[in-house]
Amino acid sequence: MTPALPDPRNANILVHVGGQLLPRDQAKVSVFDSSVQGGDAVWEGLRVYDGRVAELEAHLDRLLDSAKAMAFEGVPSRSQVERALFDTLEANSMFDGAHVRLTLTRGEKITSGMNPRLNQSGCCLIVLAEWKAPVYPGAGIRLISSAIRRNSPQCVDSKIHHNNLINNILAAIEANVAGVDSALMLDVNGFVSETNDTNVFLAKKGVLYTPHADSCLPGITRAMVIKLAREDGATVVEKNLSLTEVYSADEMFTTGTMGELTPVLEVDGRRIGEQAGELTGRMQALHGNFVRKNGTPIKSLK
Ligand SMILES: Cc1ncc(COP(=O)(O)O)c(C=O)c1O
Repeated sequence: MTPALPDPRNANILVHVGGQLLPRDQAKVSVFDSSVQGGDAVWEGLRVYDGRVAELEAHLDRLLDSAKAMAFEGVPSRSQVERALFDTLEANSMFDGAHVRLTLTRGEKITSGMNPRLNQSGCCLIVLAEWKAPVYPGAGIRLISSAIRRNSPQCVDSKIHHNNLINNILAAIEANVAGVDSALMLDVNGFVSETNDTNVFLAKKGVLYTPHADSCLPGITRAMVIKLAREDGATVVEKNLSLTEVYSADEMFTTGTMGELTPVLEVDGRRIGEQAGELTGRMQALHGNFVRKNGTPIKSLK
């Protein structure tokens, strides 16, 4: 039996895989694909608002930089990726309220194994666009701190937005077991890094704080919030943050394309707020306004 979909409109979507637009049940990669053989892929999550793709250039920069750092060969050009993205959104008539998972794998191997020498036919681009509301409840979420650390640049550099998500998945499992919404991950020195799928901000006495992007993903929503807050006259400080600073924060919120800005109400049983704080609400409003007005129009390439 087919399980119920979170959004039933996604039953009949068309997915772009390796140059073809295919119905969801036929949209597949080979068992020889590098993503199957070693999680050897890079990805982006993008959102569509009012006929525009938010922060498209920043997402393409991060995708292509990640592919370059991973020494992928046969990488599609920026305009080919853009074209595949716009074709997919247009084929699905998705012009608002959609989320796109854009994945670039190292492509098919000639036999199973991990060595990139076994890749001889270039990358495989997947554009999976779905109807998707922000994934976290707008009213706020509860976190636990995870025993699993985020990788430092000594292990796997978080500036590569890659598909090896096992440590984040293990952290998400801890959150599930604890009955909360998500897991707060520390870096190898014990400082706060990010949640398993979002960046984090604290507010204390009117100032916003966020960890350095050393072990966390340099999130595009994170960068947007820093810029919008500073333009709005707020002070934003990037610094090492300990769990004590989290527990004693006046406000906390997460940022990410998938969940936008989500208030954090509790961490490890310590109450941070009963509802979204004032600065959080202000940043949510500025972000909502910005993404609706500033994206790349979907039909711009036609
Ligand atoms: C681990 C992690 N942190 C943070 C984010 C948020 O990044 P962005 O704002 O670019 O969506 C993501 C999203 O992909 C993520 O996977």
